[in-house]
Amino acid sequence: MTENFFAISNGQPLNDVTPLVAHHLLVVGQTGSGKTTTTLSLLDQLQHANYTTIILDPTGEYSKLPNSVTYKLGENAYLEASRLSAHQLREALQIQGNQLLNDKLAQAVDALRIQQNLVQSKQPYVKIGVPIATYQKQLARLSDWSRSFAPQNLAAQLIEEFVVPFADERADYSLLGQQYDRQTINHEWNLIATLRQRLASDAFRMLFDPDPHPGLFKTELNFVIKMFLEHRSSHRTLVIDLSALKRYEESQRVVISLLLKNLLTARLQKPNNFPVNIVLDEAHRYLPKDEHQLADNGIFQILREGRKVGLSMTLTTQSPLDLPARLRSQFANLLLHHMTSPEELSSLAIADEVNLSKISKLSTGEALLLLANESQKKIKVNLPKWWDKQA
Ligand SMILES: Nc1ncnc2c1ncn2[C@@H]1O[C@H](COP(=O)(O)OP(=O)(O)OP(=O)(O)O)[C@@H](O)[C@H]1O
Ligand SMILES: [Mg+2]
Repeated sequence: MTENFFAISNGQPLNDVTPLVAHHLLVVGQTGSGKTTTTLSLLDQLQHANYTTIILDPTGEYSKLPNSVTYKLGENAYLEASRLSAHQLREALQIQGNQLLNDKLAQAVDALRIQQNLVQSKQPYVKIGVPIATYQKQLARLSDWSRSFAPQNLAAQLIEEFVVPFADERADYSLLGQQYDRQTINHEWNLIATLRQRLASDAFRMLFDPDPHPGLFKTELNFVIKMFLEHRSSHRTLVIDLSALKRYEESQRVVISLLLKNLLTARLQKPNNFPVNIVLDEAHRYLPKDEHQLADNGIFQILREGRKVGLSMTLTTQSPLDLPARLRSQFANLLLHHMTSPEELSSLAIADEVNLSKISKLSTGEALLLLANESQKKIKVNLPKWWDKQA
């Protein structure tokens, strides 16, 4: 017999946990109230129920979950840089920038794609003296299969993008350029230098994995997720460990958003019959600060559109107020741990059904469970059997 995930306050065990993930589930509560532990315990039970879950783990806290398949950025997984748009690249590398830099970065990516796929060179594309017509023909020959490029060359390539015609009668406007635009390069130098530094850092070498390493096999993260979505296997818990980027929350946000968007697209293209739950701890950290960017965020897209293709999300956060209001309203299921703030409670749609004094008296590991169309239950979360061994 497996241990019970929840024991209801009157002593009756809650044997079936699947209703918790039949809708999007929000787990809230003050720090130390038990959110992560509860989520791990829920995942443990979902494993027993053979329910498919994908955990995006920015801190590495979920690697303790037994019987899961773990892909860890920097160890056995990487992200193909060509999956990111120029804008996403800039965000992932945390380069501030203007429209000019964004345009130039997009051009640099194109030039590097030509180098890698048509010229088969590991060097940057030198644009000085190249006829525009030649370049356009090369661009036209690139296709979807030739998207890959060498991200480590981006900073050097960026310099090659700042080329202009001669400023006198020698000017030839049929060429991409004849000399470096040194003034603009100097003006953007700080950003170019930061970009070079970021690309050389350990974190980004781990993310994009540009170096060959004979004998070591790494898998592309989007590929991992796609395989997991399409093929049923006995191990139904996938952990994507992004802790290699721990110091770069913005980058984690971009990567998480991208993976989730691709996951949703994969599901929409190939609807499958088994449901999948996606878990993200401390979700507020990985949402855009600006509410206008919400529509473009992968977390929000799955919350809004995932259910019709069998995708549900489990998010945890310390305060519902840290979540944008438009996102907060997507959760039909709630697990409320210890909370003392009336503002936080009233930000949730169910505020009038819940008594704050009840929630403020909950101890660690206790919570109020509110499921769609069901009456609320006070629960005490049991630790899984394997818990002690991990301590
Ligand atoms: N159901 C439980 N039974 C026994 N101990 C628990 C339970 N839930 C949590 N704890 C203990 O309480 C401590 C805090 O729990 P946890 O890390 O899950 O809280 P949290 O809400 O995720 O905190 P944070 O916001 O800081 O991430 C842990 O040491 C954990 O072992
Ligand atoms: Mg936690």
